[in-house]
Amino acid sequence: MHDFQYKRDELCCEAVPISAIADRVGTPFYLYSYNTLLSHFRVFDSAFSSMQHLVCFSVKANSNIAVLKTFANLGGGVDIVSGGELFRALLAGVEPKKIVYSGVGKRPDEIEFALMTGILMFNIESIQELELIDFIAGTLGKRAGISFRINPDIDPKTHPYISTGLKKNKFGIDIKKSLDEYKSARRLENIDIVGVDCHIGSQITDLEPFVATLQRIRELILELQENGISIRYLDLGGGLGITYDDETPPHPNIYAEAVAEEVSDLNCVVILEPGRVIVGNAGILVTKVLYTKKSEEKNFVIVDAGMNDLIRPTLYGSYQGIQPVKLTERNEFVADLVGPICESGDFLAKDREMPQFERGDLVAVMSAGAYGFTMSSNYNSRPRVSEVMVAGDRFHIIREREEYYDLVEAEKIPDFLVSK
Ligand code: LLP
Repeated sequence: MHDFQYKRDELCCEAVPISAIADRVGTPFYLYSYNTLLSHFRVFDSAFSSMQHLVCFSVKANSNIAVLKTFANLGGGVDIVSGGELFRALLAGVEPKKIVYSGVGKRPDEIEFALMTGILMFNIESIQELELIDFIAGTLGKRAGISFRINPDIDPKTHPYISTGLKKNKFGIDIKKSLDEYKSARRLENIDIVGVDCHIGSQITDLEPFVATLQRIRELILELQENGISIRYLDLGGGLGITYDDETPPHPNIYAEAVAEEVSDLNCVVILEPGRVIVGNAGILVTKVLYTKKSEEKNFVIVDAGMNDLIRPTLYGSYQGIQPVKLTERNEFVADLVGPICESGDFLAKDREMPQFERGDLVAVMSAGAYGFTMSSNYNSRPRVSEVMVAGDRFHIIREREEYYDLVEAEKIPDFLVSK
């Protein structure tokens, strides 16, 4: 369920007509429903109420500090993959002991930042990384809580770019070697082994890969326990899919039941790192039709948002729903919804049945709350768009639209290029 519904032919976000926001902030803009964010977080969190757990929202899905603050206020933690994400999380008031740090390429300065912050744990992706964390912790006089990210070699049956738990992927430590790695980690002076971690991929719409992973991880935890290594945290990563088109992913309650079945006797705190399932359908991208044209083969609707604003359709061939902001009696046609970027890959929808849009119409690109703004760029020197949050009958700008000056603020012309 989400809060983007038509009221008297007008698409509204909660109680606010979207056209009223467009009048005030211009287009394009990302729009999030606060109450949808709240309810998605609560539904997910309460699904796990039968077990000790911590929901660590995956910041990469949507890192606006107002969004992070929304979850921090509900007691949520975060999953981060960079110093920048840690910085954002702290600004949003996330408690350090609710922060887990994943990612294959943690830099020394980022490790130091996380150790000084006192985060809950590092999810280790390689032995060299573990050794570096041990060393830096030693120089700082700190201890580092760690879990190994286990690569269970399970096919999540999703897009190859967002599969992470297969042997051929760069992520994690081979499950077959993991017992030995845990044993050697035990000898490191500044390391506390606290957990086991895994994350097999994203937009997973089938329960089976999750269950297969859980079974393998369960065996590993039992084996670790037999070897005197007790595991406090079991981090299951993110990955639960959402409905973009006609997918039927398991409800968080069903997912949580499957988790409970495998882990309830292990005496671990279960950590979840959901991203998309919380924010994906809580946000849309609102754009305006600039022109329409017809070639011999196709109809084109040219809008003012492009692949730099929302890269998912062209990068993954992903489906995003297209809806008019004002319902009309117009007929439908099959068209490509394209942006202003100078690339043929610049499309938001291809060969899609949609109303016969006209110049000036507002278009809602649905399900854009996850990996939308966070993956946007300034390609073609396009200022990044604003982000707006609606709560009830009010809207709040939570990120200003960039201006031309923002594009060049960090750049410099060296003296030798300036003629005297
Ligand atoms: N934990 C880790 C370690 C991750 O790498 C990810 C996502 C998550 C949690 C959150 O996964 P989620 O619950 O959102 O599926 N840009 C792609 C998705 C990339 C996902 C990367 N990792 C997309 O737009 O589909």
